[in-house]
Amino acid sequence: MKNVEELPNNVKWIEVAGKDKLATKNFVPGNSVYGEHLQKSSNSEFRIWDPYRSKLAASIINGMKDIPFTDGSTILYLGSSTGTTPSHVSDIVGKTGLLFCVEISSRVARDFIDNVVSFRNNIIPIIADARNIDSYTSIFRNIDSVYCDISQPDQTDIAINNCNEFLTSGSKLILVIKSRSIDTTKDPESIYEQEMTRLESNGFEINQMVNLHPFDKDHAMIMSTLK
Ligand SMILES: C[S@@+](CC[C@H](N)C(=O)[O-])C[C@H]1O[C@@H](n2cnc3c(N)ncnc32)[C@H](O)[C@@H]1O
Repeated sequence: MKNVEELPNNVKWIEVAGKDKLATKNFVPGNSVYGEHLQKSSNSEFRIWDPYRSKLAASIINGMKDIPFTDGSTILYLGSSTGTTPSHVSDIVGKTGLLFCVEISSRVARDFIDNVVSFRNNIIPIIADARNIDSYTSIFRNIDSVYCDISQPDQTDIAINNCNEFLTSGSKLILVIKSRSIDTTKDPESIYEQEMTRLESNGFEINQMVNLHPFDKDHAMIMSTLK
């Protein structure tokens, strides 16, 4: 088993059919969100966290350290889609934590609300373009960290603008880079470098960059701290 001591709260490795699987402690026991296996361990129920379905799980398996999510964290999550990763982050932050989840597509957000938000009272959905920060009217608590996974060419700038609005110095941004969303003609590694330089020139210190291969092709996760 690897990086046990570096796992966020409510995340652990669980043995299933002789193999170690990453899992989160189920905030809603009995509820499976996307068909993931539920498994009892140490008197609690855990949800197996599929790295092929969730880039955050892929990044942890590939060595991402110091994920700033824990019991009670308040997170601004950009690009919630139907809620696969948000549901696991909801498990991590637990009953005193809160996720504000921004999603541009109302059709996708409807599925997210029906299948995930309605079972989890620590998620507030916001149907909005993450470029239009002024349109978020329901953020009522200080944000501890920002997670951004929106597959847009300007995703890094969108993330930076949200951090400048909601984070204080020392807080962290976790940013998914899909190189093909930015430029299909360039080598993915040069895109990751380019986006890290963009973050640095906008007042962020890079903590770590993890390639998501083999779980996702041409994707990386960058963790940075707002200086
Ligand atoms: C790759 S998916 C997110 C997957 C999700 N983070 C997960 O791991 O379960 C990207 C999502 O970002 C949304 N999106 C794209 N552009 C956006 C924008 N400008 N503002 C908010 N959401 C956006 C898309 O509709 C899509 O649902």
